[in-house]
Amino acid sequence: MKYSKPEVEKKVNELISKMSLAEKVGQLNQIGGFSFGQGPGPEEQIRERGAGSILWLNDTKRFNELQKIAIEESPSGIPILFALDVIHGYRTIFPAPLAMASSWDPDVPEKAQTVAAREARAAGIHWTFTPMVDIARDARWGRIVEGAGEDPYLGSAMAAAQVRGFQGDDVTGPERMLACAKHFAGYGASDGGRDYDPVYLPENLLRNVYFPPFKAAVDAGCATFMSAYMDLNDVPASGNQFLMRQVLREEWGFEGFVVSDAHAVGSMVTQGHARDTKDAALRGIKAGLNLDMSSYTYTKGVEELVDEGKLTVEEIEELVRPILAAKVKMGLFETPYVDEDLLEQVVNRPDHREVSLWSAQRSMVLLKNEKNLLPLSKDVKKVAVIGPVADSKTAVEGTWMVFGHEPAAVTVLEGIRNKLPDAEVTYAEGPEIKRDIPSWFQARREGDNPKPRQTSEEATAAIQEAVKIAGDAELVVMVLGETHFMSGEAASRASLDLPGRQEELLQAVAALGKPVVLVLVNGRPLSINWAAEHIPAILEAWQPGSEAGNAVADILFGDVNPGGKLPVCFPQKGSHAPLYYARNLTHSPESSERYNPRYWDGLPVPLYAFGFGLSYTTFEFTNLSVSDSQMKVGETLTVSVDVTNTGDVAGDEVPQLYIHQKWGTDTRPMRELKGFQRISLEPGETKTVEFELGPKELTYWSANVHDWIQDTVTFDVWVGADSTASLHAEFEVI
Ligand code: NOJ
Repeated sequence: MKYSKPEVEKKVNELISKMSLAEKVGQLNQIGGFSFGQGPGPEEQIRERGAGSILWLNDTKRFNELQKIAIEESPSGIPILFALDVIHGYRTIFPAPLAMASSWDPDVPEKAQTVAAREARAAGIHWTFTPMVDIARDARWGRIVEGAGEDPYLGSAMAAAQVRGFQGDDVTGPERMLACAKHFAGYGASDGGRDYDPVYLPENLLRNVYFPPFKAAVDAGCATFMSAYMDLNDVPASGNQFLMRQVLREEWGFEGFVVSDAHAVGSMVTQGHARDTKDAALRGIKAGLNLDMSSYTYTKGVEELVDEGKLTVEEIEELVRPILAAKVKMGLFETPYVDEDLLEQVVNRPDHREVSLWSAQRSMVLLKNEKNLLPLSKDVKKVAVIGPVADSKTAVEGTWMVFGHEPAAVTVLEGIRNKLPDAEVTYAEGPEIKRDIPSWFQARREGDNPKPRQTSEEATAAIQEAVKIAGDAELVVMVLGETHFMSGEAASRASLDLPGRQEELLQAVAALGKPVVLVLVNGRPLSINWAAEHIPAILEAWQPGSEAGNAVADILFGDVNPGGKLPVCFPQKGSHAPLYYARNLTHSPESSERYNPRYWDGLPVPLYAFGFGLSYTTFEFTNLSVSDSQMKVGETLTVSVDVTNTGDVAGDEVPQLYIHQKWGTDTRPMRELKGFQRISLEPGETKTVEFELGPKELTYWSANVHDWIQDTVTFDVWVGADSTASLHAEFEVI
């Protein structure tokens, strides 16, 4: 049943009027479905005071058992919201979010997350902690894989698309789930790219760069938000009134609820912000943080704070209301249980795999294709597939497969074998790759007895074996990159080089003089300088999901023409990070004659620019025109360009529009993306693409004025195939 807003309010008021303070606080509590050794087991807590939500549980039967306790044995019988990190698929896995952003096609995340919601909801999960919309300009930061990259415009499009995918037009539908925009805010700008480290961002950067994808999520109707772990400008995000009260609620009108990140309310003590648990609870509540994720700080402190008069019952109720409203809207009071047979019917839908394959094909980025080595001929008789991630299901499924997920993806090796049933496809793993310092997630998956590390002699022997196998083949597909533990949470690194001895392996194989194609499976930009110079063809596959291998083979053997573009630039070195295209010009611009290099030991110019990606065909951009050379503040003009497929095969191009405000109240970035469209063109076909530029694109938050402004100035505009586009025009705002 669908409730109107007044009906939801009425039902929430009725519930609140019956609830004790302990139960109200219970609704502000999110119980960890597996214990971190804190707090009593879920049953006891639910019986005592109910629970707002439970997370980290992935067991349909258990959902029903716990729900039954909530309904039949907790004082007010309020159902529980079950939450899990369904980041890029539940059973059917889609490309990791950074990969989906590489499609530059919002339909990709929207369709993928629609399937993810259908599967997860069928398993009994109501709420996902997705989308992660943190802008990330530092490829050392492991969580760059979970977001849409470095740009607020592209990031906003991907954020809104994911929200639409999970929630649809009506989140109450049986195949929909609550989305959660995270981590509010600034997490991607941690010092040095080190995970969890503090973030210092001035308000203009927050508002112009880091907030827009969050705002886009709110505008798309995102039901919930998650606060970030770290200190933002010396105030933990989970106790940050500016973020949660002023910006999110007062300015953006958000009516949903905010959950903390894991243990983050309690962590305000560890971080040196709150005096003790009670003080942390006070700060969380005062800041408008509704739900305490598994630190049990609210259940430990809030009632006492009310008794002491430091908090009022009304303040607590204000935070309880949106949680109850979400439960009412989702129909949990009518349908609290899940049909335990539903999931198996849902996951076997063939269209789910089809969406996964299509998403993976659209997400891959062709970085190099010298002398048109690609596409390869299917007539090849003997192919060697080599590398530590070539036959890894976990590497291609990627990040976040942590809660009882069984890897079931098609590996790159399997995909190539599927594509070439009559050829001999040989394989060598090469030397293993491992983190120097294992992560908590890794320990959880590998248990107490992880495989011992390969010795240096074993690794050398593995390289020799791989070279031998490559030497017997007509062509070699090298599949290199990172394991799934090497990006994601707690997976930052100082270097962006290919981990382990992969480059040595690549060099040894390349020395054979055979045609070599490099396929990258990874969760962040890598410094592949040697490969970029010496390997003729490079495909960035990212973490492509369930259909990884089939999608890679479709592209390598020409059944699909790649059209993805980078949502982040590729630095030449980890020490060049943070590196991004939308920098300010400075007194010594990189294009000037008197240019002073930023570093004397190598220019920090990206190896591959933001927006870059090749195709098996070529495109030409012509006839850039601006509808008016002048417009008044508040008006809109149209920029148009002709894009022609000048090659022999059909293909996709992504015309990208960049602006530069030439002067003004504040200095603005030398380029900013303000429009893009992914289009398909037959050989010889021309399409005219139009973009609108108006107040939405030209307004910015000024550090000088402390407000949103639109300057009356001249703008450069470029449209082309990436952020280095040269086709240029100008217009003036008067
Ligand atoms: C920690 C992560 O930072 C966040 O992204 C995730 O959603 C929560 N824990 C819940 O697992």
